[in-house]
Amino acid sequence: MIEDILSLVRKHEDWRVRKCINLIPSENVMSPAVRSLLSSDLGHRYTSTDGFYMGTKFIDKIELYGEKLAKEVFEAETADLRSLSGHIANWIFLSTFANPNDKVLCVSPDDGGYPGLWKEGLTSLLRLRVVGFPFSKKRMNITVNEAVELVLREKPRIVVFGASLFLFPHPVREMGKAANEVSAIVGFDGSHVLGLIAGKTFQRPLKEGACILYGSTHKSFFGPQGGIIVADKEHGEPMKKRIFPMFVDNAHWNRIAALTLALAEMKTFGNEYAEQVVCNAQTLAKALSDYGFPVKCAEYGFTRSHQVWLDYGGYKQGEVAARKLEKVNIIADCGVRLGTCEVTRRGMKEGEMEKIAEFIKRRLIDEEETERLKKEVTRFIRDFQRVEYCFET
Ligand SMILES: Cc1ncc(COP(=O)(O)O)c(C=O)c1O
Repeated sequence: MIEDILSLVRKHEDWRVRKCINLIPSENVMSPAVRSLLSSDLGHRYTSTDGFYMGTKFIDKIELYGEKLAKEVFEAETADLRSLSGHIANWIFLSTFANPNDKVLCVSPDDGGYPGLWKEGLTSLLRLRVVGFPFSKKRMNITVNEAVELVLREKPRIVVFGASLFLFPHPVREMGKAANEVSAIVGFDGSHVLGLIAGKTFQRPLKEGACILYGSTHKSFFGPQGGIIVADKEHGEPMKKRIFPMFVDNAHWNRIAALTLALAEMKTFGNEYAEQVVCNAQTLAKALSDYGFPVKCAEYGFTRSHQVWLDYGGYKQGEVAARKLEKVNIIADCGVRLGTCEVTRRGMKEGEMEKIAEFIKRRLIDEEETERLKKEVTRFIRDFQRVEYCFET
């Protein structure tokens, strides 16, 4: 039994790490040092806010250190690292500031918004009414004038920027006045673009008018799987007060220590990393477009994030492409969103993006023989086993 479990994990690692090109935009890789903290003794321990548990003197320092770094990296007044995921950070945010029947304005899943916020998700759990932003599919962005009108008319309690299919910065600044006028609370679900925000290449939500920025710490942000919330004092403190006892009892200190080290990496290497991620996405998009793939938003420079969108017209069609790519060890989702976070972290630059585009073309357009192409992909990824943008340890 033990051998079976260990063997499955080994097989997974051998395949996904050593043999595959990973283009899933919600995934990334941790540095060896960050990863090692996940298996530290911290993962066995309890703390509590009222000092019930002894033995926490170093853990308490890690918590403060992590919060300090998060405030610096995101230019925020408060920070909290306890949220177990980006989804739970959304939940903490909505439940703190909205009451049943309040309206929430966010990007609809039809336009690339996060389904977990939508009707089947948190807004139904919290009995909120959800309204979609007016959106231009051509520009893949919120249409500002109509959105301003809608805010003034519908008077949402909460406005949430951010999305799962997220190519261009959202108009936080442009909508600030209208949101203020109706006293809406503006949050930014930065799950996808958190590493780009930390690296100062995308947008700076807290400077542009959002009161709260939160999200996953493992997508473009290269930390362990989990969540983070940073905010101004007025909105951050009430959320902090509710996290325990409403959402997290014992925090996961191994994850928080790992996240703290990832924040230190981000502070030091984040700008260089994030600029390369975006440059790689733009290079990949252009190369794919030149081959004739349906890359969205060519007229707007394709993307300013870590994502490239191949618009096949729906998940069913996308799935056909994603399955074909998986057979040659290129991993994508059925969206088809292609992400450049992990390949960048493994040290790839523009030349490698052109090579990846060529592999994709040889698979999906030329329909080259599977085994030969798979071998070539495996040989290619062999040279990118190190993790870059981190401290030498
Ligand atoms: C915009 C957005 N928010 C939240 C989440 C949920 O994040 P997590 O998986 O960390 O709970 C996702 C998931 O992909 C997402 O795309």
